[in-house]
Amino acid sequence: MKRIALAHLKGGVGKTTTAVNLAHLAAAAGIRTLLVDLDAQAAASYILRIDPHDAAKAKTVANATQGSTDHIFPSDAPLLDVLPGSLSYRKLPHLLSEQKPGKDPIQEIFKRVGKGYDLLVVDAPAGLHLESEAILRAVDLVLVPIVPSPLSMESFTKLTHFLEERAASGGRTASSGRKASDGQKAEKRPVVRGFFSMVDRRRKLHRDTVAAPHPATLWDVEIPAAAVVERMTTERVAITGVKRPGRVMPAYRELFDRVVRQLDLSIPANPE
Ligand SMILES: Nc1ncnc2c1ncn2[C@@H]1O[C@H](COP(=O)(O)OP(=O)(O)O)[C@@H](O)[C@H]1O
Ligand SMILES: [Mg+2]
Repeated sequence: MKRIALAHLKGGVGKTTTAVNLAHLAAAAGIRTLLVDLDAQAAASYILRIDPHDAAKAKTVANATQGSTDHIFPSDAPLLDVLPGSLSYRKLPHLLSEQKPGKDPIQEIFKRVGKGYDLLVVDAPAGLHLESEAILRAVDLVLVPIVPSPLSMESFTKLTHFLEERAASGGRTASSGRKASDGQKAEKRPVVRGFFSMVDRRRKLHRDTVAAPHPATLWDVEIPAAAVVERMTTERVAITGVKRPGRVMPAYRELFDRVVRQLDLSIPANPE
């Protein structure tokens, strides 16, 4: 089972939109996928039409830690399920503070809920705090949407360095001040890759930033800014369900292909 997380210091950059679309494309390709909505705003769960009352009743995190799976909901798409976002994720800091040596609660949750899936797509909350750090530590690939500007390039570089530095120190971070899991060997670093999000080619700033030399960690994939994407939230469908998605569709497909190659995901020959 492979895990990816959409992450960024900022909100409003396309994390949730991308998480939903990648999860949909994966499921459509025959990959058994679970979208893990770790954002308390639960926007991904909303787009995927999960009833918030059901989700709240399931007390998602509490159940996940206890091994129950009744917190997982099917989506309208075959092979795509959802672990919905809920305000119960406020409990994450508490879970982390009770972390036992050698046990990473987020890793444990992912392992438990991920049984039977080929891919976990995690919509992580914005920011870099203990919860998001723990989430990023527990995935294979961190995908960072970059709305083109020198400042967002700078914050992408910072995030990449932060994760590299943490890996080099065996999990010790400036914010936690201690090893993530004492007694364990240095953890593997998630691979961090960026892609351009909401690109508006009419804007010089966008054109210049995309054209400027960038690190190899930044994929040359460009999701255009297009009003059609906003229909995902009004119609509550993935981009694959929006009529006439236009040029954003090949862009999301390209991003999905890059993820498949990066994670070496196997696509069944005859997806259902
Ligand atoms: N490529 C795009 N073009 C136009 N609007 C977009 C695009 N991607 C996302 N949006 C819109 O921008 C807003 C923020 O996107 P979202 O994915 O929720 O960001 P985040 O999860 O990073 O906060 C949403 O209203 C979404 O519909
Ligand atoms: Mg979001």
